[in-house]
Amino acid sequence: MTQTFPPDNPEAPTTSQSAAPDVQAAGASGAGQDARRLPAALKRRAPKYADLAPLMQFKKPDFGRAAKLRRASTIWDLRDQAKRRTPQAPFDYTDGAAEAEITLRRARQAFLDIEFRPGILRDVSHIDLSTNILGGPSRLPVGIAPTGFTRMMQSEGEYAGSQAAEAAGIPYTLSTMGTASIEDVAAAAPTGRNWFQLYLWTDRDRSLELIQRAAAAGNDTLMVTVDTAVAGARLRDVRNGMTIPPALTLKTVLDASYRPAWWFNFLTHEPLTFASLSRYTGTVADLINSMFDPTLTYADLDWLRETWKGKLVVKGIQTVEDARKVADHGADGIVLSNHGGRQLDRAPIPFHLLPEVSAALKADHSDAAIILDTGIMSGADIIAAVALGADFTLIGRAYLYGLMAGGRAGVDRTLEILEKDMQRTMALLGVSRIADLTPDHVRILTK
Ligand SMILES: Cc1cc2nc3c(=O)[nH]c(=O)nc-3n(C[C@H](O)[C@H](O)[C@H](O)COP(=O)(O)O)c2cc1C
Repeated sequence: MTQTFPPDNPEAPTTSQSAAPDVQAAGASGAGQDARRLPAALKRRAPKYADLAPLMQFKKPDFGRAAKLRRASTIWDLRDQAKRRTPQAPFDYTDGAAEAEITLRRARQAFLDIEFRPGILRDVSHIDLSTNILGGPSRLPVGIAPTGFTRMMQSEGEYAGSQAAEAAGIPYTLSTMGTASIEDVAAAAPTGRNWFQLYLWTDRDRSLELIQRAAAAGNDTLMVTVDTAVAGARLRDVRNGMTIPPALTLKTVLDASYRPAWWFNFLTHEPLTFASLSRYTGTVADLINSMFDPTLTYADLDWLRETWKGKLVVKGIQTVEDARKVADHGADGIVLSNHGGRQLDRAPIPFHLLPEVSAALKADHSDAAIILDTGIMSGADIIAAVALGADFTLIGRAYLYGLMAGGRAGVDRTLEILEKDMQRTMALLGVSRIADLTPDHVRILTK
């Protein structure tokens, strides 16, 4: 049956009778149409100052760093600012991935190829994003991933990361290739939850020294990275001739001329030192290769399990079988990660693995924590990962873009953006607590 409007008034003019004259009157009242029918709000008049005054908000433009950071509403905005402020070699070292960078693109795309399934009419006036991970609290379901050479990206480096994490009440992970020592980070963020990431060597004395220092400095979690038998082919670094520290060549000097703040900071702070090496000069690839040990096996993991008394997490798990196996060997948790796409190109995507890994560990190792990284660029990505079974997530580049955009204040901005995203996404999903997110909140779109 066709509905008419109003339905019960046969006298009402038809749509064509009633609407057409109004449209004409509004659009062409000066052209001989019935101007008296025009609503007052649509009649033209001279602008009055009293109407304009409240609209006029001319302020002195603020080109300061803090204002620029405030203008960034997404992590992508921070990336744009980072790119403008950082010389090409360190920016590309951070932004780039291995080979054709397929893994990184797919990992980011995976978060977009979903649909959220919101619930309505739930009280979401208070959203609680806090959670528990590896025996301790975190105010947000995300922590900072280990990243090497961080003071090369911006001179505040690890200090900015660890202090921003401390202020936000989330864990911070220092890399074996970090450019600040375990002790200095502990002193800079004494009330923070500091974790240490280890590149394990079969040379046990070398590993043992770092483990003992991490324990003495109060780190509650050791994260051993196992996806680095050899270095990935980071082609941008090869093309940029990237070295540690950055060499002064004609190209870098030219680059410096329009990124003076970075160079000024770099040259007026202490030279890069490492968490585990005292000083290094050479190409990134050489340093990385000296850090990685292709002879590692499960026997080394067993040794580590006996040696380290705190929580032990294995980072770089890329299959369901390995997730189960490291839990069998006593790991307290896994990081589903392909190293931000920086190692094997065309690697499995952690977000895709989540449902299966979550089901497998629930069955055999329900206490093992599932942490996910790679590709996170928004708070909604984090919420999607938690809904599909991650207990926690880590961000690498998202915080490094903030760091390069504005040092400590930039990392704070990254965390603020992600927190706001998470708050909003949860409210729109009709969920007020992290523990209430379930796989039913996410539908994976299939092609
Ligand atoms: C510049 C950079 C340096 C990194 N250095 C390390 C490292 O020293 N040790 C490690 O285990 N992972 C390292 N990673 C990998 C991160 O811990 C993390 O797995 C990855 O960044 C997650 O992906 P995302 O950048 O998309 O968040 C590094 C990543 C980046 C971007």
